[in-house]
Amino acid sequence: MCGIVGYIGQNDTKEVLLNGLEKLEYRGYDSAGIAIENEQGVNLFKVKGRIAALREKVDHNVSSTMGIGHTRWATHGAPNVDNAHPHQSASGRFTIVHNGVIENYVEIRKEYLSDVTLKSDTDTEIVVQLIEKMHDELQDTAKAFRKAVSLLTGSYALAMIDAEDNETIYVAKNKSPLLVGIGEGFNVVASDAMATLRETDTYKEIRDKEIVIVRRDSVEIQLLDGTKVERETFKTEIDAADTEKGTYDHFMLKETDEQPFVIRKIIQHYQNEAEEIKMDPAIRNAMLDADRIYIVAAGTSYNAGLVGKQFIENLAKIPVEVHIASEFSYNMPLLSEKPLFIFLSQSGETADSRAVLVQVKELGHPALTITNVPGSTLSREADFTLPLYAGPEIAVASTKAYTAQMAVMLLLAVDTANGKEIKLDFNPLQELAIVANAMEVLTDQKETFETLAQNYLSESRNAFFIGRGVDYFVCVEGSLKLKEISYIQAEGFAGGELKHGTIALIEEGTPVIALATQSSVNHSIRGNVQEVNARGANTLLISMKGLEHDEDAFVIPAVNELLSPLVSVVPLQLLAYYAAVQRGADVDKPRNLAKSVTVE
Ligand code: M6R
Repeated sequence: MCGIVGYIGQNDTKEVLLNGLEKLEYRGYDSAGIAIENEQGVNLFKVKGRIAALREKVDHNVSSTMGIGHTRWATHGAPNVDNAHPHQSASGRFTIVHNGVIENYVEIRKEYLSDVTLKSDTDTEIVVQLIEKMHDELQDTAKAFRKAVSLLTGSYALAMIDAEDNETIYVAKNKSPLLVGIGEGFNVVASDAMATLRETDTYKEIRDKEIVIVRRDSVEIQLLDGTKVERETFKTEIDAADTEKGTYDHFMLKETDEQPFVIRKIIQHYQNEAEEIKMDPAIRNAMLDADRIYIVAAGTSYNAGLVGKQFIENLAKIPVEVHIASEFSYNMPLLSEKPLFIFLSQSGETADSRAVLVQVKELGHPALTITNVPGSTLSREADFTLPLYAGPEIAVASTKAYTAQMAVMLLLAVDTANGKEIKLDFNPLQELAIVANAMEVLTDQKETFETLAQNYLSESRNAFFIGRGVDYFVCVEGSLKLKEISYIQAEGFAGGELKHGTIALIEEGTPVIALATQSSVNHSIRGNVQEVNARGANTLLISMKGLEHDEDAFVIPAVNELLSPLVSVVPLQLLAYYAAVQRGADVDKPRNLAKSVTVE
């Protein structure tokens, strides 16, 4: 999704902005631009396409110590240079970048801007033109900015500069993430701290409907009526090194490899000195109070939620429903009397999930967010947060966040079971340690998956994933991984459903990836494999040690069967990765996709 970076200080702005935008590339974008200001005015550079092209377009002879930059993921208007940010007002005096969606832009245009010729198809241009209108009336930039912002509805993170004032960046926020970073003799603005980690590790959170006046040596937060607000700074925990690829070709491979370490980190963070689960008692009480749990999430996080349901129902004996966030508002289920909502989200910024959270809070129900980004919108707005400790996930395809989500949900389920005095016959922390070792065995065998991807997937138009029980949920996730990065059409199916339609698609050579990690269904999934083989499928069967047959293509190390999704997904992630590489796809930045989907 879109990204914002701004800088005001002593150094060359161009490099700070371009480096910052490069750090935001992982979020997905289709055009980019920067506006830099000096005594002579504002210089604007915009391109359709990559930051590398923007770097070439920028006039490196222009010196400036203040500017704003943007990566755009098109919502209103095609991805082209006219629609790329920054946008300027009619006179060219005001220049703005914007993340989010202005819902009332049509009304604003009718009411205030009927005499203005627009240069783009974006809702953003409406904002900067409105600011100029307000300035015509009020003759004061801060007042005009505040007035214009107060007329907006929808989501926005805004950073604006005034060609007649090279001492100030004007910032505003509602629903879209935005931070102000604090430095010595400089300050920065970023939609994601990742963009400005080279500059600072100290930030101030900006809350909805706040305005910020950012200068070289001061940051002033105001409410829309101009009242000043004091806000403490905080230090980001993101290590700048975690945002680099190092020796890896792609972030996805690095992040897949990091999974054993992430699981060990989770064990470390969620265990006390007696080596028992350490969980906020308020979260345990919220779980114990609930008569039903509603997990709300999107994409990979939704797939993790399907496994989380198994953990909570099997161990803590509380009924769980898993819902796709974007469907929830229209298809809201009949809620139980004492629901607890769990929002699963790597980024903590997914707009679809946030819309449900807002609805849930209006209804007065408690909410827990499980996220990789504490301090994100979903984390701040929920009653409780459980962090994933997975470190920054940069590749669009989620890997380590998925396994981390399952691990944290397992601990949550066990902690709740302990609270209910349900006797469990396994130690989850030890089981997770076994899982981490098993993951390592798999990530050490990359060449095998590279060969399997070549043999089964890289030349194929489509692929099917089949499994039963929790294997089915992993199949859905495996197919999502494959389709999003390799563009092979892939679907995950419950083995038993094949005969009800899908088997009609199996023909000579169709790749079918089957998972067999569950003893209760080992026999029946193998029956399904026979059925597709009889119709010509090219089947790759991945089983678990102890359940394997001679003909299986790959056997994963044995772990507790309930926890097998954390391990069986690793081969599927690696198969997807190598198939995408072999097909020449842009693995970390697949087409049409964004890392953090901040529009509904
Ligand atoms: O940040 P979130 O976990 O809320 O994101 C949800 C989905 O957009 C995300 O999981 C998406 O499906 C991934 N790209 C899949 O790899």
